[in-house]
Amino acid sequence: MDRKLERALSSRRSPSHAARASESGDGGGDDDSKNRKHGAVAGRFANLVRVARTYSGNLLLLFALLLAGAFFLSWAPLPPPAVVCVSPYHSAARNALVGADLVGLASDFGVLGVPWCRAKHDRTVEWTPKDLLNGLQEFVPIYETRPIQDSNHIGFDHSFGLWFMARWLKPDLMIESGAYRGYSTWILRQAMPATRIISIVPVHPDKHLNEGPSYVDENCTYFSGSDFVDFGSVDWNNVMSKHGISDFSRVLLFFDDHQNQLKRLKQALSAGFQHLIFEDNYDTGTGDHYTLRQICDQYYIRGGGHSCFRDSDEARTRAKRKMLWEKAVDTPELCGKEGAWWGVQGYMRDNFNSSNKAVSYKQHFQNSRFVESVLDIYWELPPVAGPSLTHQIRYDPARTQEPIVEDGKFHLFKKLGLARLEASLFNQYTQMVYIKVSAPPLTGT
Ligand SMILES: C[S@@+](CC[C@H](N)C(=O)[O-])C[C@H]1O[C@@H](n2cnc3c(N)ncnc32)[C@H](O)[C@@H]1O
Repeated sequence: MDRKLERALSSRRSPSHAARASESGDGGGDDDSKNRKHGAVAGRFANLVRVARTYSGNLLLLFALLLAGAFFLSWAPLPPPAVVCVSPYHSAARNALVGADLVGLASDFGVLGVPWCRAKHDRTVEWTPKDLLNGLQEFVPIYETRPIQDSNHIGFDHSFGLWFMARWLKPDLMIESGAYRGYSTWILRQAMPATRIISIVPVHPDKHLNEGPSYVDENCTYFSGSDFVDFGSVDWNNVMSKHGISDFSRVLLFFDDHQNQLKRLKQALSAGFQHLIFEDNYDTGTGDHYTLRQICDQYYIRGGGHSCFRDSDEARTRAKRKMLWEKAVDTPELCGKEGAWWGVQGYMRDNFNSSNKAVSYKQHFQNSRFVESVLDIYWELPPVAGPSLTHQIRYDPARTQEPIVEDGKFHLFKKLGLARLEASLFNQYTQMVYIKVSAPPLTGT
């Protein structure tokens, strides 16, 4: 937790040189000094004209004037370059904006920083950055054997996170909600080869065969098709006893079903589960469901709480980051009616945004107090590697934890086998989160 605090504090540093250069869009002080030089020369030429008017008969002066004119023309600015239409996310355009070097971008988010949820007793996970590095080395060759190679499933970062955490926690049973063609079921299976899985999904994975390969697991109970029951409506006491599970704290839940995470958290708690992983933990202003990250984005959290004031440091920082990262959110996009910035423009989305309920700030705040009251651990998976290594262009690295392989460590990136993977595989990071929860302390009567 100390590291998180340190990171959040450092992320609030004032914008660095690179950021300032990108803000002006001119690569820093060089062009500025050129403008000053042209201004000075033009001023000198105007002075000469005034002198010549005073002494109009003086040929020598006229000659001097012509010489000065030639000198001025030699300093005249070049014609503006032809306008080229490129996407701001095109790597050449981005490199021009940030000075041909992406290293260090992660610390340039200035006033915004990285929000996180406060756990009850300031506890964090047992695994260390070194464990994550060792895990990565082991995981890459496994990942390369995945049965579904297209990108219609969780990307590399979250595949690694899910595999790593399932393997570390060693549950007696794994439950996933939202399986689509079974890719994440396959990841869970790689982590725990002999552990029973329950997969909840409206349409069975083998019904998607016309869309490409799918994975159906032999040691998995599917609640799908006519057997589909939403996670919140399952009689878990009954299902657990059928699976021989008496200790609910030995079960791992994985949600990739795009449902309101507050709803899922309450359902899991009331059933007695303790270990939850959410795949899409979207940042404030983004995504199709209300997330823990959104809920915990509060003024008293460093990196949390936002201003809709258009002429502010935050608005300027947001506008600048939006030019660099596809999923960064600028102020007009962040803010809804009457300055509602929380959730998504003051709405609590649910079920792939098919439900979109306005939530007052007071309610949003109470939601965060509830979440804090049940959290034993909140841990966001860091991105696997910095953007100068992965060439990802989607999520803003300054709004995430420090990557496992930091920018500039290309040798390590290569050694881990990550350089063999296509850049697009790193483009789907959305702050996957692991939480451990327990019932809130009893209050009052
Ligand atoms: C993003 S996909 C899951 C991708 C999958 N985890 C993978 O890695 O390939 C979301 C899935 O959630 C399913 N879904 C929709 N509503 C659901 C619900 N109430 N409970 C469980 N799954 C649901 C969708 O049908 C879809 O299969």
